[in-house]
Amino acid sequence: MLQIWDVNWYLDVEQCPCDVHFVEWLEANSVQAKTIFHFGTGGHHHIGLANHAKGCPNDILGITASPQEFDAFVKLAIEHAELSRHYQVLFGDIYLLNPKLLPHIDIATLFHLCEFRGDSQDAYGGLTDEGVLDTTLQTMPKGGIVSIFTGSFAGDKATDIAMSAVAAGKLERLADYKSLQFYEKLS
Ligand SMILES: C[S@@+](CC[C@H](N)C(=O)[O-])C[C@H]1O[C@@H](n2cnc3c(N)ncnc32)[C@H](O)[C@@H]1O
Repeated sequence: MLQIWDVNWYLDVEQCPCDVHFVEWLEANSVQAKTIFHFGTGGHHHIGLANHAKGCPNDILGITASPQEFDAFVKLAIEHAELSRHYQVLFGDIYLLNPKLLPHIDIATLFHLCEFRGDSQDAYGGLTDEGVLDTTLQTMPKGGIVSIFTGSFAGDKATDIAMSAVAAGKLERLADYKSLQFYEKLS
């Protein structure tokens, strides 16, 4: 059985400000015409809806393992006919990420890296957390950006993985923004 997330996560900026901070970072850096992969949409779909409200400067592909959050996306896509042109959501387990099914990605939010890998993924050959980062990097050109959320309970572990990629010459650390770290793909 697939490991799902049996919760419909509402926006809670006190507990989990990553999506709000990311939208602010996009705005502060005037990010446009980028393809963004977003790990963990929440049922609120804040990143997709904020992009829609700003006239769709970017194209965003989210992933959720929550059937309820996926249903919420379907409802939003029906209500707002234009939404799904620039915001789409995959249903599945990030640990089954397959680069052949992904677009070329310019920016990836791996905010929940290291939060959800359990033993259940071993039964179906799931990636490790390091594998999720490596697979994401495979979809990116040189200069691609990966963001990590320091406010996650697994933020230290995710930082260790990203810093190992820095030590291996795969990534360069950029300036942090609020609760988020940013890394650039080097080659
Ligand atoms: C705590 S919620 C945070 C949502 C949103 N990023 C926020 O900060 O409000 C965790 C998110 O990760 C997603 N998630 C949990 N396990 C996952 C998995 N194995 N693969 C993909 N997404 C997963 C959930 O569906 C949910 O959207």
